[in-house]
Amino acid sequence: MEKIRIGIIGHGFMGTEHEKMLTGIEGYRVVGISDKDPGQLENVTDGIKKYASNEELIQDPEIQVVLIAANNNQHHSLVLQAARAGKDIICEKPVAMSLEDLDDMVRVTEEYRVKFTVHHQRRLDPDFRTAKAIFDAETLGDIYTIKSSLYGFNGNMHDWHVYVNEGGGMLYDWGVHLLDQILWMMPDAKITSVYADIRNVINFEVDDYFKILMRFDNRVTAEVELGTYYLADKPQDKWFERHWFIGGNKGSAYIDGFDPVGKIVRTDGLLKNVSGKRTMTAAGPTRSFGPPPEGKILTEPLPAVNTNHAQYFENYRKAYWGEEEFLVKIPQTRRVLALMDAVRESGRTGKSIAFEN
Ligand SMILES: NC(=O)c1ccc[n+]([C@@H]2O[C@H](COP(=O)([O-])OP(=O)(O)OC[C@H]3O[C@@H](n4cnc5c(N)ncnc54)[C@H](O)[C@@H]3O)[C@@H](O)[C@H]2O)c1
Repeated sequence: MEKIRIGIIGHGFMGTEHEKMLTGIEGYRVVGISDKDPGQLENVTDGIKKYASNEELIQDPEIQVVLIAANNNQHHSLVLQAARAGKDIICEKPVAMSLEDLDDMVRVTEEYRVKFTVHHQRRLDPDFRTAKAIFDAETLGDIYTIKSSLYGFNGNMHDWHVYVNEGGGMLYDWGVHLLDQILWMMPDAKITSVYADIRNVINFEVDDYFKILMRFDNRVTAEVELGTYYLADKPQDKWFERHWFIGGNKGSAYIDGFDPVGKIVRTDGLLKNVSGKRTMTAAGPTRSFGPPPEGKILTEPLPAVNTNHAQYFENYRKAYWGEEEFLVKIPQTRRVLALMDAVRESGRTGKSIAFEN
């Protein structure tokens, strides 16, 4: 099999991961790596070139595809440089820090006719794919709510991730993944309005908490919530991490953890009011927790999904050789960036923002 010859720019946390992944799967050869900090190249695997500059990597005729894994504020200029040298490009997320920068990248990649996509591999997260499989199966009836949350315990934000001008903050970090997942789950639904609460809980410059509500024209309201600094004494208790909740008029689904556990509880009819059951709480009785309707409740395991990070690059390889489409298309990443603008505007003004209508 002909191998795709890759050059990686940026050999930090993610660049090192890419080096490992691409040396371990079929159809790729990592030719060389550059980093603006030469110290970052000390642990590059033997046999992979280390360049003194990005320019040297970009001009190396052995390299076909440049994978950009440098800080967020470097993506724009590195994409332009690589495109002008005729290299195909995979850029880390967020593809750009603004729509204007992305449009510029699109103009140049089109002008130089290079392939351009983004590493949104979290479309392959098993928790997300489980939620998407449940949504696609349409067994919960009319879905009205989807909640996707990520609660970091004792989280740390570090290095450039705490500076605005470097593209720091959790919206650019996990935010683009979480929004991309929701938009990709319901690609045909338009968002009618967006409301966001964005906070700096302990950081001076950048967001480290957000709650985003998106109302769609398919009658779903999706809520995405992320917190970075929930305090946990026993992280293994799994009160935190990753959660999904999906509610429809025929049932509910609960999904917990990156390696998801949970269940689907649904009826074969429609949910309806059942005669009240009195539940006593310390401050008084409530009838909010009814008994399940007789004989109609189906409890089902989560659908099995078989997805992983390597599949992102398997798709890339096939798409590169024209056998299928790229999983991540640039207009999809543009939609996420446009949504991020509305999110930020809502966060700033405290108002809900009309979007896509
Ligand atoms: N897809 C994912 O799941 C995922 C996960 C983590 C990070 N990322 C993305 O990967 C990128 C890198 O993040 P990270 O956490 O690895 O950061 P990092 O700080 O660990 O690594 C960044 C590396 O890029 C180098 N660098 C910076 N500017 C450069 C330039 N102009 N030329 C060459 N090298 C340069 C730095 O010296 C550093 O070694 C970011 O865009 C981030 O959003 C994606």
